[in-house]
Amino acid sequence: MKIIAGNWKMNGTCASLESVVHDLSSVETNNRIILCVPYTMLGVKSDKIAIGAQDVSAHTHGAYTGEVSASMVADMGAKYTIIGHSECRQYHGDTNDTVRAKAEQALANGLIPIICVGETMDEKQAGKTMEIIESGVRESIPSDVNSDIIVAYEPRWAIGAGLTPTSDEIAAAHTLIANTLTDMGLSGTPVLYGASVKGSNAAEIMSIPNVDGVLVGGASLKSDDFIPIITSVK
Ligand code: PGA
Repeated sequence: MKIIAGNWKMNGTCASLESVVHDLSSVETNNRIILCVPYTMLGVKSDKIAIGAQDVSAHTHGAYTGEVSASMVADMGAKYTIIGHSECRQYHGDTNDTVRAKAEQALANGLIPIICVGETMDEKQAGKTMEIIESGVRESIPSDVNSDIIVAYEPRWAIGAGLTPTSDEIAAAHTLIANTLTDMGLSGTPVLYGASVKGSNAAEIMSIPNVDGVLVGGASLKSDDFIPIITSVK
């Protein structure tokens, strides 16, 4: 069983989500399917597909115009939320500390956070990939986790770029993350790979040791692109 999570980013409508949810509901799979969608679509219901958000506020409530709290996301029936996505780190200034505060809010409200870590191209070229990944895991995850979390390794330079690291690079990153999680008392935490996953590379990526599933951006928006990823693995 793998976890196949889609990240719709700022795309779609309630109607397009309902259509994809309808198409996915007839797919035979043992994999866990999650669609992380804009807040406005969290009300769309599905028996087979879990719905998640893409971010939550680091605050519980109050004068934070434009923000949405984890309790509001849970109130809509969502079960998951992405936290610390590369685009939130890049455009909204999220740091490991912010990500940890948001993950605490998610956990306190019964959501499963999908906590993203990964290196930029500058960090990769400076030979800092492993250091950034390990500090990302250690600093972005709250200290007292006693319910489910998911970690996603997303090499930031590869997202939306049609680029993917080599299998050896993915294996090294995922082994480091698994070992770090074990050291933190969180062994067994699923670790997803994300960045330019598509039907043609999904099975190979998910055959790499310590890759427990994928986080899919662009290729999760249309059933014709997403279903081959879901059915590429048992
Ligand atoms: P991509 O995005 O699959 O379009 O590269 C991945 C992500 O941002 O989660």
